[in-house]
Amino acid sequence: MILCILGRQPELGLTELESLYPGKVTRFGSEAALVNIDHLDIQNLGGSQKAARVVYNLYNAKISEISHKIIDSYSKRAIRKDLSKLTIGISAYNANIKTTQIKKIGAAIKFNAKKLGGTVRIIPNNDPVLNTATSHHNKLGLRENKKEIIIIQHNSRTIIAESIGAQNITALAKRDQTRPKRDAFVGMLPPKLALMMYNMAIGKSQSILNKKLSQPAILDPFCGTGVILQEAYLRGAKIYGTDLNPKMVNYTQQNIAWLTKSQAYKLHIQQGDATIHTWNYANELNAVICETYLGQPFNSTPNPTKLEQVKGNCNNIISNFLENIHPQINQKTALCIAIPAWRDTEFNTIHRLPLIKYIDKLGYNLHNKNPLLYFRENQIVARDILILTKIKSR
Ligand SMILES: C[S@@+](CC[C@H](N)C(=O)[O-])C[C@H]1O[C@@H](n2cnc3c(N)ncnc32)[C@H](O)[C@@H]1O
Repeated sequence: MILCILGRQPELGLTELESLYPGKVTRFGSEAALVNIDHLDIQNLGGSQKAARVVYNLYNAKISEISHKIIDSYSKRAIRKDLSKLTIGISAYNANIKTTQIKKIGAAIKFNAKKLGGTVRIIPNNDPVLNTATSHHNKLGLRENKKEIIIIQHNSRTIIAESIGAQNITALAKRDQTRPKRDAFVGMLPPKLALMMYNMAIGKSQSILNKKLSQPAILDPFCGTGVILQEAYLRGAKIYGTDLNPKMVNYTQQNIAWLTKSQAYKLHIQQGDATIHTWNYANELNAVICETYLGQPFNSTPNPTKLEQVKGNCNNIISNFLENIHPQINQKTALCIAIPAWRDTEFNTIHRLPLIKYIDKLGYNLHNKNPLLYFRENQIVARDILILTKIKSR
């Protein structure tokens, strides 16, 4: 059983896991999920910060019992002859365990290990939880002698789990910041979200086909600077992209050439208006993944007239795109699209696009019944993620 610590927007991370491992995921409190599998590669997930193997399940456990289990097990590990010096980090999520108690556990492991003739380095921390960057930089979970112990509680159950890795936020940031072409106006889709969308679509497609796809074919028809295609390529997908704007086509071509160190994908990235374009390869696609046109950016909630105008415009473009691609893709193609939704920060409400209400009339099933919204605190335009498949007959 694997425990995943979910990211900043846990609903998205949870949906990503449910798409990849249908029927095997249960939520564990507000920040985590349990996945009933033996192993996963955290670097292939966008919405989980850490993954850990469950070692103990305790019920109504007191801190003394939790501490004892950890201290006993890890002090003994410090004297294992096959391991060089043990490094340990300790994190307590959702648990009534204070930083001072975590420090005491760390000190006791060190003390007992020394008594037994071993040495342990405990990663210092002034918070109950080690941040993902610290876990990753210390390679916790990636070596037998470098571990993060995660304690997490939900209702009466306490789980003690041992890390198998943390998200490589350095690599994600590097891919984002060092690619040759970026465009602040078109928007910066975070690679983590691109990866989550990829997994949601591929997971859905795999469950329709009832098999794992080793080289799925995917299309981003609003490819912009190519963030989705980059993440998809890194997971082994065959990638195709189109965009209305020739400048963006060129940007994606340059970014993909940089990533792949080849010009081979140049012909796969072409100019095209998604509302009328014909993709000759559409019938072979396993997934269509895109962040559509989001309308103009706003610093504050627009007035009702302006909002209706922008909403209407986006609604038209996106409905026309969905209608245009519908007859071209096959029944087994899954779609994951990010469309705009506008946050009214004053009334704490959200304005979603009208097309969501009549998505069936456009020929699609919407699989996520609850809204999946991605936004930063200061953003007015949120991304509203929809997971779609074609309705069998219209
Ligand atoms: C929000 S951006 C997508 C950014 C992209 N995810 C990235 O990684 O950079 C939307 C893109 O849609 C393109 N676009 C707008 N209307 C379009 C249309 N009718 N057909 C195809 N692309 C369109 C814009 O040129 C822009 O690049």
